[in-house]
Amino acid sequence: MDRIRIRGGKPLSGSIPIGGAKNATLPLMAAGLLSDGPLVLENAPDLADIATMRALLVQHGMKVEHDKAQRRLVLSGAADNLEAPYDLVRKMRASVLVMGPLLARFGEARVSLPGGCAIGTRPVDLHIKGLEQMGAVFDLEGGYMHAKAPATGAGHFLRGAKIIFPQVSVGATENLLMAAALAEGTTELVNAAREPEIGDLAMCLMRMGARIEGIGTDRLVIEGVKQLGAATHPIIPDRIEAGTYACAAAITGGTLLLEGARMVDLGAVVRTMRECGVDVAEETEGLRITRKGGLRGADVMTEPFPGFATDMQAQFMALMCVAEGASMITETIFENRFMHVPELTRMGARIKYHGQSAIVRGVPKLSGAPVMATDLRASVSLVLAGLAAQGETIVNRVYHLDRGYEAIERKLSAVGAAIERV
Ligand code: UD1
Repeated sequence: MDRIRIRGGKPLSGSIPIGGAKNATLPLMAAGLLSDGPLVLENAPDLADIATMRALLVQHGMKVEHDKAQRRLVLSGAADNLEAPYDLVRKMRASVLVMGPLLARFGEARVSLPGGCAIGTRPVDLHIKGLEQMGAVFDLEGGYMHAKAPATGAGHFLRGAKIIFPQVSVGATENLLMAAALAEGTTELVNAAREPEIGDLAMCLMRMGARIEGIGTDRLVIEGVKQLGAATHPIIPDRIEAGTYACAAAITGGTLLLEGARMVDLGAVVRTMRECGVDVAEETEGLRITRKGGLRGADVMTEPFPGFATDMQAQFMALMCVAEGASMITETIFENRFMHVPELTRMGARIKYHGQSAIVRGVPKLSGAPVMATDLRASVSLVLAGLAAQGETIVNRVYHLDRGYEAIERKLSAVGAAIERV
């Protein structure tokens, strides 16, 4: 099994190209189910999760071409198999995003329940309740959600509804947004997630012919149409990849230009990094991150966008491990997202956590160690710690990194890191 070996202590300097956002690409691919296409997605990243979504759509009966050299995905055809099987859904929870599109276009879907996950229980009740409000009837059988929606007579299967989310959910907002695009009448999504990936999905749906208002706000109003068509859509840059490399510049005391990254997508992450003594500047080619002086500790609490992203919590904690003073990090989105703590501790970090909060007391130096993690962002936080640590760090279970970071060792070694895949 692949491992990543890092010899830490080198300040990084140079440019890193930021790829298309994984978490935008996955729902955009699911949106391909809503029309015969072709749906052309430009700036597509080459990641394990994208390959999983492609396999899922292909087994549904769609044609999905991934031209990696051109960074382009082309989706076409119509699904003829309405089942999302367990072996793919358990690999990647975002697979449940096919449910809304399948129901809206074909009136039926059978999607495996995803089951538990390393960072929390992550139920899908909000997806189900919303689709029920739109007229779908769910049955649970053999670990599968089997949903059916009767034809409305006007060429639709689902009906528009006013859906008030009791809690902000990115995935549920995306599933219902896609479903509403082909539903009869008007759907209102209240307390909708506002993550940039949702705006990107809405823009793409509009290009396909959907009618959506309120993009970028927490209230989306969708006027359903009978049919969606072909479109070409550029995927937004990956704000979490950008934020991660921003931490790499900061933790090594270097300077990096993150090509293509945008300030607007990073929300509270930029503000917090500045508070810690990191310089963040927007240039024409992207964001420049520089850290010259010392790092100061800061408190963060994860929140829905534009708050501090939970997907940046582990990386930020790695940074705080070498900052001056104490930092309190509170995780409010997922209940079990501190699995990187014991591994960072093995590298000399001083962290205590209780419930949803962790106190990090900065140390002058971390020391390299063999480590491993159980999810994507936790794994990359160990890579960051390794870049700053004295000596050698081996990060095991690299397949987690490959789900969300394209060519991470190549991108980091190109800016001066001593990192290789072994
Ligand atoms: C998405 C992102 C993930 C990110 C997360 C939060 C993708 C593919 N993944 O995940 O990287 O960490 O947003 O920003 O875009 N919840 C329920 N019931 C539901 C749905 C969610 O209780 O039906 C809870 C979850 O357990 C969690 C919280 O709501 O505690 C937020 O989850 P959600 O925003 O839905 O995350 P995902 O869409 O799964």
